[in-house]
Amino acid sequence: MLKFALVGCGRIAKRHAELLGNHQIRDATLAAVCDVVRPKAEAVAGPFQVPVYTDMHEMMQREQPDVAVVLTESGRHAEHAIALAPYGKHLIVEKPMALTLDDADAMIRACDRHGARLFVVKQNRFNVPVLKLREALEAGRFGRLVMGTVRVRWCRRQDYYDQDAWRGTWALDGGVLTNQASHHVDLLEWMMGDVETVFAKSTTALVDIEAEDTAVVLLKFRSGALGLIEATTATRPKDLEGSISILGEYGTVEIGGFAVNEMKVWQFEQPLPSDEEARTRFSVNPPGVYGFGHQAYYDHVVDCIVNHRQHLVDGLEGRRSLELISAIYESVETGREVGLRFVPKLCRLGHR
Ligand SMILES: NC(=O)c1ccc[n+]([C@@H]2O[C@H](COP(=O)([O-])OP(=O)(O)OC[C@H]3O[C@@H](n4cnc5c(N)ncnc54)[C@H](O)[C@@H]3O)[C@@H](O)[C@H]2O)c1
Repeated sequence: MLKFALVGCGRIAKRHAELLGNHQIRDATLAAVCDVVRPKAEAVAGPFQVPVYTDMHEMMQREQPDVAVVLTESGRHAEHAIALAPYGKHLIVEKPMALTLDDADAMIRACDRHGARLFVVKQNRFNVPVLKLREALEAGRFGRLVMGTVRVRWCRRQDYYDQDAWRGTWALDGGVLTNQASHHVDLLEWMMGDVETVFAKSTTALVDIEAEDTAVVLLKFRSGALGLIEATTATRPKDLEGSISILGEYGTVEIGGFAVNEMKVWQFEQPLPSDEEARTRFSVNPPGVYGFGHQAYYDHVVDCIVNHRQHLVDGLEGRRSLELISAIYESVETGREVGLRFVPKLCRLGHR
């Protein structure tokens, strides 16, 4: 049984605590929770009767969990992950893994140095229709990829941003691209492959925050395919969709719903008998915007730890997504198309 301890007991911590505390994840249990604001930690711990801490170091020393789960504000993930790495336990970090590439690199380095495995939460990769789409891609059913589009049209009003001082700030959160749409940006890159260039425009349309609530991005992939990201939290009066569509030489798939969870289109030039099932079986919208994926995500993490398997979103994969988002912001600032290059920072090859 792997023991999990939560660091940060805000909104998303409740989802993590429910899954672990209610034994919905095989071979996993909730061991303790921690928040610098004690009542928040108590509220999350309450239903599960687990120990409460206000200092993560004290929690790590006393409880000796197998996995620490970092659920603090995005801009603090690096500080907390780096502080936790020396315990040599595995680390799960909520998305986005960090807000700067330097922070992401420092996290990866710290975890490597102390033998801690680093898992970044990208639960939408585990949505059943998304896995189906990935399967079709890997089977070569699309042929040459032509275009990939993700669209996030959600509704976040001023009161959402006002509930905590960090929301919508450049230092700790970013805007719709970094927070809400980071899942979709990750999915697009996962499906379409490496990005060569991005050109983006953004605006802060309907709320008073530092970062953007609306953005559009044109992408060119290394494969030659094109892509489009449309992301906004300025949809009114309510959430409309979170979707991805992949168009290839031999087929088209579109997954929609609120949380990329509903198979809308599944059509190929060369149909298979299983296609009808793919179309009809995967059309269920989850009750909340987080989707169903956290459970599948935790199952995957436990499987990777117990069976020593390679995980789907490690530090480098989390960094890849952050590199794309950083390039998008660079394009917004410069008004230019920005190329994505690999700039080695950790590579020792050739260094004396
Ligand atoms: N995967 C998803 O779908 C999803 C959904 C929501 C949020 N998130 C991510 O989860 C993270 C948290 O978001 P949230 O909405 O829960 O934020 P939140 O503000 O509700 O919670 C953050 C908590 O961390 C606590 N904290 C800060 N420093 C701490 C420390 N040193 N030790 C212990 N606790 C500390 C704060 O007191 C706060 O209670 C963000 O990075 C966000 O992007 C992911």
